[in-house]
Amino acid sequence: MNVAMIGSGYVGLVSGACFAEFGANVTCIDVDQSKIDRLNEGEIPIYEPGLDDLVERNVKAGRLTFTTDYDPAIAEADLVFIAVGTPTRRGDGHADLVYVYEAAKQIARHLDGYTVIVDKSTVPVGTARQVCRIIKEENPDADFDVASNPEFLREGAAISDFMRPDRVVLGVENDRAEKLLRELYRPLNLIEAPILVTGLESAELVKYASNAFLATKISFINEIANLCEQVGADVHAVAKGMGLDGRIGRKFLHPGPGYGGSCFPKDTTALIRIGQEHGSPCRIVEATVEVNAAQKARMVKKVRDALGGNVSGKTIAVMGLTFKPETDDMRDSPSLAIIPNLVDKGATIRAHDPQGVEEAKKLLPAKVQYFDDVYEMFSGADACVLMTEWNEYRGLDFGSIKSKMAGNVFIDLRNVYEKTQMLGNGFIYYCVGR
Ligand SMILES: NC(=O)c1ccc[n+]([C@@H]2O[C@H](COP(=O)([O-])OP(=O)(O)OC[C@H]3O[C@@H](n4cnc5c(N)ncnc54)[C@H](O)[C@@H]3O)[C@@H](O)[C@H]2O)c1
Repeated sequence: MNVAMIGSGYVGLVSGACFAEFGANVTCIDVDQSKIDRLNEGEIPIYEPGLDDLVERNVKAGRLTFTTDYDPAIAEADLVFIAVGTPTRRGDGHADLVYVYEAAKQIARHLDGYTVIVDKSTVPVGTARQVCRIIKEENPDADFDVASNPEFLREGAAISDFMRPDRVVLGVENDRAEKLLRELYRPLNLIEAPILVTGLESAELVKYASNAFLATKISFINEIANLCEQVGADVHAVAKGMGLDGRIGRKFLHPGPGYGGSCFPKDTTALIRIGQEHGSPCRIVEATVEVNAAQKARMVKKVRDALGGNVSGKTIAVMGLTFKPETDDMRDSPSLAIIPNLVDKGATIRAHDPQGVEEAKKLLPAKVQYFDDVYEMFSGADACVLMTEWNEYRGLDFGSIKSKMAGNVFIDLRNVYEKTQMLGNGFIYYCVGR
């Protein structure tokens, strides 16, 4: 089976490599020449555990290639996936579909023989039909169907999520398209991964509804954490007590500085817009977004309060910058809301991240100082903030860290450390909801 993947970012590259691993011949296409050059030189442009080996293996086997050229991959493809970005459109919160529509036009010009064009990007309800309309307009003779196959992989665990998904959602309009997609995903039958076949609109909405629900869980537990701080409760005990109820579940009930990343922020705002446009507001999601923004602001206040109400002239060491561990993705990371605010208020920021520094440099104020050696970062710091819970921060020698610091304030925004342990190391310890 021949597959073309339009867009070779987090989703396109991982999905393309995984489909190749399933045995398909995959061509990953991207407009970014430097990205394609790097891939052709054997370099992986993103940090995703295990992706380098997977790509190398499938390139060597001749099943995975990279190009900027739509020709001849589209003509030869049985299935063409659209996995381009759908960022928030400036000004109105809507998903920006320019990349999807541009890809659809390009695909249309190169189609040859029956082809299924599949939206893998997260797109508003109705997009698959728009893609269908664009292709018909560009190439009235084209023989094709459109389908929707939203992607649920998580960065940092993308390959195992793709290879062992909780579910695969196929939005299709006829048996012919369904058959081809089922054939592509056939290796997953071995592990009995559930395959849910729906109409186009339902498939498009499953993705937004799922992300909005997870974001809601996070905002919910963050509000409960804030309440815990007021009433003297421990949010971990509360979350555990809630999560043991099978109807609620334990996952995504961990408090922190607010959600971020390439999906939740943009997908929640896009869902709000979809609801408004269809006269069916998603008020819970609206509140989720508001609570999330407030949580980031609350973290700034937490740092300020911990430093006596004023961060001006203080040096703060920040552990972790990416929106979560095991990725170099900085998109909408809470650090992008919190650090500039502290810099504006006069703080000096010293920062460390195992993978995110290159991206962070493009997005954070120029004054932020970066360190390769995490221990060196703490020299002379008045306070330390744990922003992202990378595993390598779990086993640090806090006695040595404390001795390097000028102050003794430790603000754990991810509730990774035990209070008694940190007090034992001579810190004044703050966390979230405990
Ligand atoms: N990142 C995730 O964890 C994740 C998970 C599930 C779903 N998604 C969704 O998948 C989609 C892609 O996300 P991503 O994180 O991979 O984005 P990304 O920005 O990492 O990659 C998108 C790529 O598409 C390329 N591109 C843009 N226009 C193109 C065109 N006309 N032809 C060829 N290539 C083109 C860009 O150069 C870029 O390399 C989004 O809709 C996102 O919401 C992302």
